[in-house]
Amino acid sequence: MKKQHPVRVWITGSQGLIGRALMGAAGLLGPGYSVRGLTRQELDLVDFKAVDRERGRDKPDIIIHCAAMTVVSLAQKNPEAAHRINFETTRHLVEHDGDTRMVFFSTDLVFDGRRGNYQETDPVNPLHVYGETKARAEMAALRNPKNLVVRTSLNGGASASGNRAFNEQLRESIKNPGAGMTLFTDEFRCPIATVETARAVWQLVLGGHAGLFHLAGAEKLSRWQMGCILAERWGVAMDGIRPGLAKEFTGPPRALDTSLDIDKIQAVLPEPLPGLGAWLKANPLADF
Ligand SMILES: NC(=O)c1ccc[n+]([C@@H]2O[C@H](COP(=O)([O-])OP(=O)(O)OC[C@H]3O[C@@H](n4cnc5c(N)ncnc54)[C@H](OP(=O)(O)O)[C@@H]3O)[C@@H](O)[C@H]2O)c1
Repeated sequence: MKKQHPVRVWITGSQGLIGRALMGAAGLLGPGYSVRGLTRQELDLVDFKAVDRERGRDKPDIIIHCAAMTVVSLAQKNPEAAHRINFETTRHLVEHDGDTRMVFFSTDLVFDGRRGNYQETDPVNPLHVYGETKARAEMAALRNPKNLVVRTSLNGGASASGNRAFNEQLRESIKNPGAGMTLFTDEFRCPIATVETARAVWQLVLGGHAGLFHLAGAEKLSRWQMGCILAERWGVAMDGIRPGLAKEFTGPPRALDTSLDIDKIQAVLPEPLPGLGAWLKANPLADF
């Protein structure tokens, strides 16, 4: 039966890179939806009592759950805090009320990267705390068959802070060659523009899709290749940027090839997901 009130949507982490893109593209939902973006300042999601109070007031029909501790090295240093926001908070939001539909944002980093071109049916094997917390949260989210889990890859675009997206970090490094950034030639992902991620998520929501989907760019690129494509777009030299090998990296373990097979999502989306190179060519004026 059709709901009488507009479908109420929460977006957690709405000031983050992807949450902000979702807010920007929320017009795709049309007039039957009312969207509220939540920030940490308004509601700290690890405060479950406050979450329950706010949720009781708003009664969201759909929660797009973007909020997370997303920096791999930070999660590795703070495993308890990462577990709390990435896993326990997701489980709390899922278990509170079976009527609410959740769209949970997960990551290609649930895979160990030994093979690449992963399908939704492939077993996960995270190499670090961030990947582990996300893999556990996926399972919690998928316990409700109405929920949707999207595993995305490296997202690029314009963040509120100007330093969240990989393109922004690269641009900063090129401006400050002294910082000495290394881009790995042996680490592969399927980068995507956040506006494409946002469009695809809203299309999945409107289509009533549930279950697990890989949502990434159609082209597998190494970090070094991404850097070269972006430097060319900006008309700059890769000053101060060095090629390097992820397998020799001494920080938290790195998954070498977490490229995602996107056939499942492509079959249900009205428009294809482009690779990063093709998207940049098609959007020469985009802030990227
Ligand atoms: N961006 C990517 O390349 C990428 C790739 C794969 C998967 N993902 C997943 O996609 C989702 C969105 O990523 P993103 O890049 O948009 O992340 P982001 O830019 O780091 O944003 C995360 C947001 O979550 C908020 N948050 C963290 N802890 C919170 C808490 N306790 N209460 C309320 N809000 C809290 C943060 O607020 P503060 O700013 O106050 O910390 C921030 O606004 C994440 O789940 C991430 O794991 C992202």
